[in-house]
Amino acid sequence: MNSPIGILDSGLGGLSVFNEVRALMPDETLIYFGDSAWCPYGAREAEEIQQRVFKVTDFLLAQGCKIIIIACNSATITAVEALRATYPIPFVGMEPGVKPAAAFTKTGTIGVLATEASLAGEKFHQLLSTHGQGLRIITRPCPSFVDLVENGELHGAKAHAIVKEETLPLIGAGADVLVLGCTHYPFLRPLIQEVAGATVKILDTGAAVARHAKSLIDEPLASQHKAKHQIFTTGSLKKLERLFPALCPNTPLQEIALHQSAL
Ligand code: DGL
Repeated sequence: MNSPIGILDSGLGGLSVFNEVRALMPDETLIYFGDSAWCPYGAREAEEIQQRVFKVTDFLLAQGCKIIIIACNSATITAVEALRATYPIPFVGMEPGVKPAAAFTKTGTIGVLATEASLAGEKFHQLLSTHGQGLRIITRPCPSFVDLVENGELHGAKAHAIVKEETLPLIGAGADVLVLGCTHYPFLRPLIQEVAGATVKILDTGAAVARHAKSLIDEPLASQHKAKHQIFTTGSLKKLERLFPALCPNTPLQEIALHQSAL
């Protein structure tokens, strides 16, 4: 059997990346780890995030993963370099799409929605100095978006009110591009687009990360031996069972096994 691809996040948000990876590489077996008991990472100190990410990585390596996608901007910004220096397998990280946003904006004002941990990271500041020169970049942490997604509240009056409160100030400031710099946020994309208006471009990097991961996998596939995708959570299994179909509507339930982890 082919070795699996590991995907990790602080919780359920990385399932937005799982969806892209599964769509692009349907013959690969995926092991997803959502650290929901420790979510949000975005409000934690870098050292604590690193400790959790190393623990989850050890778990994924013990499952035989050949490559790990850090489907979490906060974890990437705080830990990816340390991971690459420690383990021999490839790690694919996420970063807020400031580069494509800079190429797209006409007003010269970009809104970046991301966690506090991501916005505070050295790697994010490097990204701004490389790609954000001459642009007005307005950053905004949206921890309430993470709560909405972890609770499966992707529609309805409460989600709408929260999305409006976080998004409208950026549009009011002239942003014509919004960067979703946290993997939870794409699940709120339809609402964000509705609130921001059709002319505002909304960018996330999930599909680009899936393509990058694919380019690093060179072994031939043995699709007839594909195993089920394994989805682990340190949070509530019941919640995962309830939310998975809404977050991953294109993944048939026969293709997956859901587990609770006490990691
Ligand atoms: N999904 C995570 C990210 O991309 C963070 C959410 C959180 O745990 O704060 O940054």
